[in-house]
Amino acid sequence: MGKDIKKLVIIGETKDGKVFRPSDWAERLCSLTSAVGNNKKLKYSQLVHPGHTPAGVKTVTVNPRLHQLDPLAWKFVIDFAKEHGLQFEAIPAPPGYTALTETFRARHSVRRFLPTPVSRDVVTELLELASRSPSGINAQPWKVYALTGNAREALSAALLERFAQDATEDREYDYYPDKWVEPWLSRRRKLGFDLYGLVGIPKGNKSRVKEQAGRNYLFFDAPVGLIFTFDRHLAQGMLLDYGIFIGHLIIAAQARGLASCMQTAFADYPQTVRRHLGISTHEMIVGGLALGYRDPEAPENQIITEREPVEAFTTFKGF
Ligand SMILES: Cc1cc2nc3c(=O)[nH]c(=O)nc-3n(C[C@H](O)[C@H](O)[C@H](O)COP(=O)(O)O)c2cc1C
Repeated sequence: MGKDIKKLVIIGETKDGKVFRPSDWAERLCSLTSAVGNNKKLKYSQLVHPGHTPAGVKTVTVNPRLHQLDPLAWKFVIDFAKEHGLQFEAIPAPPGYTALTETFRARHSVRRFLPTPVSRDVVTELLELASRSPSGINAQPWKVYALTGNAREALSAALLERFAQDATEDREYDYYPDKWVEPWLSRRRKLGFDLYGLVGIPKGNKSRVKEQAGRNYLFFDAPVGLIFTFDRHLAQGMLLDYGIFIGHLIIAAQARGLASCMQTAFADYPQTVRRHLGISTHEMIVGGLALGYRDPEAPENQIITEREPVEAFTTFKGF
């Protein structure tokens, strides 16, 4: 249901044009799927919320995802509208929107890939799409080293050797803070617990944790590994452009049936990466990306990370 519907609007007017009463019907209906927020006030769900038509008639807007996420709530809301003879309006999704939202929702970081190769043509196509991303002054500050086959394996071998020796190299930029504070600390821990739990690493087993971390340098067995560099003549603000570029790239890959995992692990060994790939000292090693086909059987690929609700990170004003 609702595959190509962006939203369903239930209008507080019966089919014969009478305004539906009681006047707080919309708030009451929405309160069924609401929760109490930190400020002790009722917080409506993003999936069912009250509103008005331009003519001031009360409405309830329902996101069709409710059908999947909470079928009982969906049924209740729809039955309520039908029983009371309320008008409905299904707002169609613009062409391509549904496919795009599904691509966004389906993407997740993959940490074990199938050996199925990915051709240079496909990698080129994805990078070309990603390069459509915006950048300040249209600087396009990305530079990519795309590796497969022996080239990928040789870099992995060089890095794994360093990693096995517990070698450390000076990072060229700070990605993680020196000290973790909340809420970042808990989120980082949760990811670790979930990942280690799925791959069966018992708590405190340092050698297995190290082994799992080392898989980063194998690009998690992906047939293609990308290394990203950034011209040091630019200022750090342009790493924003870089992030958007990589965001475009991973979504393009997902839409093409490929999976990915962004990896700053490569920025832990900038000197080895630079030496191995003959990268100029003018270029900073930003990180890498594993690209290939997802292994559907792998336990580590079953992680679906949570997200905070929009209201938790957005301050709406004037809406
Ligand atoms: C800039 C960046 C760096 C990352 N570095 C690593 C990494 O080195 N190793 C790894 O396994 N995952 C890495 N990740 C993946 C994140 O852990 C992952 O995106 C996050 O847990 C959210 O999960 P999801 O991508 O499955 O939605 C990185 C992600 C980003 C955006």
